[in-house]
Amino acid sequence: MKLTIHEDVKKIPYYPKAMLYGFDEGWARLSSNENPYPPSQKVFSDIFDALFFTNRYPGGEAELKAAIAKKFDTAPEQVLIGNGSNELIEMTLRAMKHETRNRIIISDPSFAFYAIAAQIYGYEVRTVPLVDMHVDLGLISSRIDDATRVIFLNNPLNPTGTIFVQEDFENFLKTVPPEVLVVVDEAYAEFVESGQFPRTIKDVSEWPVLMLRTFSKAYGLAGLRVGYGIGERSLISFLERTKQPFSVNMMALIAARAALSDNAYLKKVLKNNQKGMHFFYEALRELSVEFIPSEANFLLIKLGKEAEGITKRLFDEKVVVRWMGAYGLPDFIRVSVGTMNENRRFVETLLRVK
Ligand SMILES: Cc1ncc(COP(=O)(O)O)c(C=O)c1O
Repeated sequence: MKLTIHEDVKKIPYYPKAMLYGFDEGWARLSSNENPYPPSQKVFSDIFDALFFTNRYPGGEAELKAAIAKKFDTAPEQVLIGNGSNELIEMTLRAMKHETRNRIIISDPSFAFYAIAAQIYGYEVRTVPLVDMHVDLGLISSRIDDATRVIFLNNPLNPTGTIFVQEDFENFLKTVPPEVLVVVDEAYAEFVESGQFPRTIKDVSEWPVLMLRTFSKAYGLAGLRVGYGIGERSLISFLERTKQPFSVNMMALIAARAALSDNAYLKKVLKNNQKGMHFFYEALRELSVEFIPSEANFLLIKLGKEAEGITKRLFDEKVVVRWMGAYGLPDFIRVSVGTMNENRRFVETLLRVK
């Protein structure tokens, strides 16, 4: 039978734009810890120039590595670029596969993709509970055994926004055997204000540590998918062997380099986040609603048994937040800091639907 593609396409149900909540003006999209602002102007102009070269395979990875290396005062050979930090998480699991060591350790809760990707690659997942909503590195250390291969630490932790500090991290590293890789996912590091946040970059050459960062959050490039890892040279070249050629597209590479060069943009984003976070703190205190003070661009809020219902009612009012049932925290929602208008709208709507 001859298939008329044109006619077939017509049969696909049409989803009105609003189904993609957030891309039309009516929605406050506060569920994925995204940057509420469009990217830096420098990103737009550099991408526009690069359009001319899209007949070529992506260039620009070496230049981005060099720019990242300069920012962290390290060598380009210590930098790995991925299609979002998610690709780096997957790449790590692929490269680290081992005959007898086949277990990862993560905190519970933690960013969901660690466990998902680990299971795809045949690892067993060991979870370690939080203590008082914080990752307890001593407890994680006590769960390392002969089967442990990779430990994923997320700092600040998604979904709590809490951090572990430099001193505890250094003590922890002394307990990790050399066969185990510690991945420190710092997707939200730019937002941290605490002076005790670990300077992981100092540890990457001395310990089996891979530091992950992303352009998806503070730099506003979530839709382009680009993240990076920094580690010791031999680790980076080992991991890179499992990377698909050209996995990061040319626009993403060029946009990331432009974004990195625009400090004024980053400053504006961080200032907005600080202001928004303090607005949330004050408003929630006034409403006597409990929350976990956060070092990131999102806030974990306790709403009790009604949390799921409130999430749905907020959605009906076009305010999208994340119910934390899937993270084992059914009494909580997670809300990203948006623009001040979005933050106000969230608080006003919450008051109405609570
Ligand atoms: C802790 C954490 N790591 C990684 C990611 C994924 O980031 P990317 O967009 O760089 O793949 C996220 C996204 O929400 C995250 O919360």
